[in-house]
Amino acid sequence: MEVDCFVDGLFASRAAVPSGASTGSYEAVELRDGGDLWHGSGVEKAVKNVNTVLREILVGSDVSDQGSIDKLLIEADGSGNKSIMGANAILGCSMAAFRASSLVRDVPLWQNLPGTWPDPILPVPLMNILNGGAHASTNVDVQEFMVVPYGFSNFDSALRAGTETYHALKKSLEEKGLLGGIGDEGGFAPSLQKNEDGLKLLVEAIEKAGYSSETQIGIALDVAASEFCSLNRYSFDGKEIDGSELSDIYSSWIEKYPIVSIEDPFDEDDWESWVSFTERGHDIKVIGDDLYVTNPSRLQRGIEEAASNSILIKPNQIGTVTETLEVMRIANTAGFDCVVSHRSGETSDDTIADIAVGTGCGWIKTGAPARSDRTSKYNQLLRISESGLPYAKGA
Ligand code: PGA
Ligand code: ZN
Repeated sequence: MEVDCFVDGLFASRAAVPSGASTGSYEAVELRDGGDLWHGSGVEKAVKNVNTVLREILVGSDVSDQGSIDKLLIEADGSGNKSIMGANAILGCSMAAFRASSLVRDVPLWQNLPGTWPDPILPVPLMNILNGGAHASTNVDVQEFMVVPYGFSNFDSALRAGTETYHALKKSLEEKGLLGGIGDEGGFAPSLQKNEDGLKLLVEAIEKAGYSSETQIGIALDVAASEFCSLNRYSFDGKEIDGSELSDIYSSWIEKYPIVSIEDPFDEDDWESWVSFTERGHDIKVIGDDLYVTNPSRLQRGIEEAASNSILIKPNQIGTVTETLEVMRIANTAGFDCVVSHRSGETSDDTIADIAVGTGCGWIKTGAPARSDRTSKYNQLLRISESGLPYAKGA
C-alpha cells in the first residue's frame, strides 16, 4: 500500500506500508482482497478505501495536527481492530500526513514528533544476518539471529562493523559448504544441525571480522516462538518441550554467548512462561513482539504481570502514528525499552528510522545490511547521523 498526500493542491509526501510473514494473532487487520487474483493478497479494497471514504474525511484537515487526523481515521473505521478500512489503508494515510507535516513545518521528520521525547539519538541496530523460522525454507526454528554493534563511538562505525560481520559470516558459510540463499530480511539462510549452531556461527563471524564479542558486538535473537508452538508445547530442535524446558535452553545460551536480547521467546498466549522467564532476572532485554503487537492493552497487561522488560514497536501492528507513539510513551513510563522495527515484507519507506531517532529509544531492528528494502533505513540513519547526533550504545 502506498499513499500520497497533497497539501494546498500540490503533491507533498508519500508513505508505504509493510507486511509481516510471522504476524501476531492480535495485530490490527491488514485488509487483503481474497479470491484468485494475486493469490488472494491483493489490496484493491484497501486502495479504494483510501481513495473514497478516507480521502473524503481527510480533505481539509491540517496535516500538522496528527492527533486529529488519526482520530478521524480511527472513527471512520470504527471497528477497534481496523478491519473495516484496513490497518494498511489507515497507516498509509497516517504516515503520509506525518511526512507532509514535516515538510510543511520545514523540520526533519525525526524532529517533528508530536509531544516531548527524550533527547534524540542514533539507535543501535539489531542486524538480522542469519534467517530461519517463517523467513527461510530451512530447518532452523529461531527466526532471527542478529548482531548488535553497541560498542562504537558513532553510528557509522557501528553500521560498518555490523556489515563487515555480515560478510564474514558469508565467508564462513561458504567455507563450510553452508551458503545457500538469503531469507526474507536479507540474512543468510543455511540449514543447521541445531539452533545453537547459529549462535556459534555469529560469534565466529564477529571475531573473524576483527571485533570483540565481549565489548563491541553482541547477539540478539528473535525466536518467534508462536510459529512452532501448539497448546503450550514447543517443537524445537526436533523435540516437543514445554516453556520451562525452553527457558532452560535460553538460560544456558545466555551463560555461553554474548546475548543482549531475546524477542518472543514464548508463544503469544503463554503468559506464564513469559513471566517466569523474566523473573529469572537475566541481564538481557526480553522483548515482546507477537505478545504485545504494539497494542496498549496488551502492553499494560505485560507491565502489570512483569511478562518482559522490553517491547518491539511496529507501526502497522496498531495502525496509526499517534497510537504507535502512545504505546512508546506507556513503555517509557514503565521503564520498558522500545525497539522500533521493520516487517519481513518491507518497502523502501524509511519512516521507522526517523521514529527511532526522534523518540530517543536507542534501538532499531531493520534486517541485514542488504537489499534496498533494508538498506533504505540504514541509509536514512546515516543521513541523520550527519547532523552530529550521538550514538546510543545501549547494551
Ligand atoms: P514479521 O517478522 O514481519 O514476519 O512479523 C518480524 C518479526 O517477527 O519481528
Ligand atoms: Zn518478532
